[in-house]
Amino acid sequence: MALNKKPYKGCRDFFPRDMRERNFLFEKMKTAAETFAYEPYDGPLLEEVDLYKAKSGEELINDQIYNFTDRGGRNVAIRPEMTPTLARMVANIHKQEAKPLRWYSIPNLMRYEKPQRGRVREHWQFNVDIFGAPAVHGEVEILTLALFYMKSFGATKDMFQILINDRAIVDCVFNDLLKLSDDEAYKMYKLIDNAKKMSEEKLNEAIAEKLADEESRSLMHEYLSLSTFEGLTFFLNKFELTEKCENVLEFIDQIRDTELFEYLKFDPTIVRGLDYYTGIVFEIFDLHPDNRRAIAGGGAYANLLGIFNESPLSGIGFGLGDVTMKDFLETHGLMPDLKKPNHDFILFYTDEANSVQASRLASDLRSLGLKTELNLGKIKFNKIFKLALSKNYNYIGIMEEKNGKLEVQVKNLSQDTSEIIDPSDSQKIQSFINKE
Ligand code: HAM
Repeated sequence: MALNKKPYKGCRDFFPRDMRERNFLFEKMKTAAETFAYEPYDGPLLEEVDLYKAKSGEELINDQIYNFTDRGGRNVAIRPEMTPTLARMVANIHKQEAKPLRWYSIPNLMRYEKPQRGRVREHWQFNVDIFGAPAVHGEVEILTLALFYMKSFGATKDMFQILINDRAIVDCVFNDLLKLSDDEAYKMYKLIDNAKKMSEEKLNEAIAEKLADEESRSLMHEYLSLSTFEGLTFFLNKFELTEKCENVLEFIDQIRDTELFEYLKFDPTIVRGLDYYTGIVFEIFDLHPDNRRAIAGGGAYANLLGIFNESPLSGIGFGLGDVTMKDFLETHGLMPDLKKPNHDFILFYTDEANSVQASRLASDLRSLGLKTELNLGKIKFNKIFKLALSKNYNYIGIMEEKNGKLEVQVKNLSQDTSEIIDPSDSQKIQSFINKE
């Protein structure tokens, strides 16, 4: 029986055209992170499952993780997220390092999910995290960097929003006001996390199931109806929660007069599915009706290092998915046309006798930094232009012998200009290409 040519379900092959798009996204990620002085790191593809059991949350462990027992009897998983690996790495070195630590990575991750628009089983995720930053400043920097990345594609306010909340607020509502037990609060977290995927009716039903008395339900609805920072401030005052939630209020104060503020929206349903978040949590949300989901998600975690018995070191960061980002760019018309390659120059020769000289000239041009393709084998003159255009070349050279002398006709196809140049003069060819 013939084998299946398709990649494993939910995974993608990256043909050269796909790689051009992927590299385009990754280059912008590197540029954004390095512009803010973040340094790259990486970790292993496999980790012991216990690393994720500690704080990643039920959904990831019960439904999404790819795990197996290795030959040594260890229960290992293909990384479904990067943050636990990052915390493990930081736990090893944080005592010796100057703070804050600013790190980024672009790992591939595996999650067993039902493939659909915006969801695959293997995705790449831009992870940016800062450890040991003074309170609120880390949050501001991380969100400013995320905004910088989005804007580097030309994305504007009408295309995406940064939805934000603080786990401290949710904890206060669940514990102090609704007096839920730990178990009830955990279930309520999971319900709220799913709120956007449910109809209003279903959500109300589920809340009614979990909250017996009318007063609790109406409080829950009051919380869920908050949609502005003004409304939030009023709510926190009303229920005397300002002291316990001072972090988010300080954060709002810090950013009120910045550009970031214009992109932020308070959203009480943002609680994030991962268990380690303790402070501000956020998602970059695509506003296009075809992609109503998060492009990125992140938040602050006060004590992830605690799972390694290390002293607390606060961290904050986000993960931004390549699939959701590509959907975002395509639907908003921000993805450049990368269907074809974009090399500098192609050199043809029409007589096999000139192949050695052509090869020498191609080498000279490459030494000058020009991305040069040597068309291998002689070619008929009338086939050259069609081939060059199909390969997306604007600059071509045709090496031929004319009147006993070897010459190269260098052409700019879009402007229909050309020059005859001696094959030994690679610099002249370079300046023709740069000049045009
Ligand atoms: P997350 O919300 O699980 O967070 O994932 C972050 C982003 O990765 C999502 O918003 C989505 O764009 C993308 N993503 C996640 N799962 C898939 C999937 N199956 N298919 C396609 N894209 C996906 C985290 O993973 C946190 N560890 C992020 C973080 C870093 N928090 C702090 N630092």
